[in-house]
Amino acid sequence: MDIFAHRGASGAAPENTLQAFTLGFAHGATGVEFDTYEVEDKIVVIHDRHLNRTTNGTGRVENATLSYLRSLNVGGGEPVPFLEEALNTVPEGKYCNIEIKAVRCVESWASIFEQACETSAMAAENVIVSSFNHPVLRKLTRLRPDLKIGLLTASYELDIPTFVKALNPWSVNVALDVVSQPLVDAIHRLGCRVFVYTVDMPEDILLMNNWGVDGIFTNYPKRATTLLAAC
Ligand code: G3P
Ligand code: CA
Repeated sequence: MDIFAHRGASGAAPENTLQAFTLGFAHGATGVEFDTYEVEDKIVVIHDRHLNRTTNGTGRVENATLSYLRSLNVGGGEPVPFLEEALNTVPEGKYCNIEIKAVRCVESWASIFEQACETSAMAAENVIVSSFNHPVLRKLTRLRPDLKIGLLTASYELDIPTFVKALNPWSVNVALDVVSQPLVDAIHRLGCRVFVYTVDMPEDILLMNNWGVDGIFTNYPKRATTLLAAC
């Protein structure tokens, strides 16, 4: 089972920071997950719509200027990271899951993403792009059919085949609160991987492994890799 450091190793370092991503890989993660917004001509890495919780700034991310975001401290003196900086922390052969929280427009997002991959030498084949915004994902699949798409959901949908086939994603990224063995099996029958978020407790990590889940997002990648190594 793949281990993704959720917002980096965010149980041990400030979330969505370069230090948290680096630590995630040092703790044995297969990949990192982080959250993004499109601001001016950059994709920036931060979870909340508002700056208050994770930075020393105020206001909405989407209303902020890049120079303001770069003047803030998200932990350890780091400013709000740019996508290319986050991608730079991913070792060769490892993965990242870019969660889109908001875009200005899918076309500009795709162009910034392409530049960030070039700047950082990140292989696009090792990137999963996920979002709760499914129309954005559908537009992206038309622009970049090569990208691995993660269909994010916090719901156990009424009609799983219809829900999944509407997008034909690479993976379905499901909330721990709604996942079950029948759901995992149903998604697998449709030819998709199942990733589950956010799985921190040892009992849940082992349960996901027993259910045949392909990967988990966890704030504690060291805990997960240690537990699974003992299985
Ligand atoms: O990508 C899985 C998970 O990160 C989605 O929820 O709120 O932690 O971004 P959230
Ligand atoms: Ca996320």
